Amino acid sequence: MNIRLATVGNLLGMQACNLQNLPENYQLRYYLYHSLTWPQLSYVAEDHKGRIVGYILAKMDEEPSDKSHGHVTSISVLRGYRRLGLAKKLMLLSQEAMASIYKAEYVSLHVRKSNRAALGLYRDSLGFDVHSIEKKYYADGEDAYAMRLKLSTTGTSEQPPSK
Ligand SMILES: CC(C)(COP(=O)(O)OP(=O)(O)OC[C@H]1O[C@@H](n2cnc3c(N)ncnc32)[C@H](O)[C@@H]1OP(=O)(O)O)[C@@H](O)C(=O)NCCC(=O)NCCS
Repeated sequence: MNIRLATVGNLLGMQACNLQNLPENYQLRYYLYHSLTWPQLSYVAEDHKGRIVGYILAKMDEEPSDKSHGHVTSISVLRGYRRLGLAKKLMLLSQEAMASIYKAEYVSLHVRKSNRAALGLYRDSLGFDVHSIEKKYYADGEDAYAMRLKLSTTGTSEQPPSK
């Protein structure tokens, strides 16, 4: 398994992976916008044939604010490749780039309240906290946890997670 920065040539593969894994889907131009605007923040995991089996699509916050922060737009790993540590590695690489290149103070993301696997990844494995609950955030009416992780200059959590 190879994990590396996403290129424009990977965007269709990332979109295909997203379509298989999540109901939150995006037009190709939104992937392109991420890749051209923040080329250092999105990563892919590919198998030995070069097929994209996981990705993280990430950006910096675009609202003017006193605290620079990164945001994970989407992350997923194909079913046959889960629990191998790929998502954790993708998250850590993107967090490191947010902190070192853009001086991000924290990283934010949204997750469905019912998404046990993702909550395990964010809260238990990476040390994110629930910042707030956004009612009916998703198109089907499910609430989201808005989660945050404070970053050190290396992109890792300032406080180690419980596990
Ligand atoms: C969530 C997701 C990205 C995790 O990917 P992954 O590559 O399997 O995750 P990792 O192997 O890096 O797991 C790292 C840690 O996260 C936690 N975790 C991952 N999957 C879990 C699960 N099914 N249940 C509980 N905890 C889980 C564990 O703490 C795990 O560490 P461990 O394997 O040492 O116990 C993957 O399940 C997925 O693509 N799901 C569908 C798309 C999705 O929900 N994306 C997130 C939207 S917010």
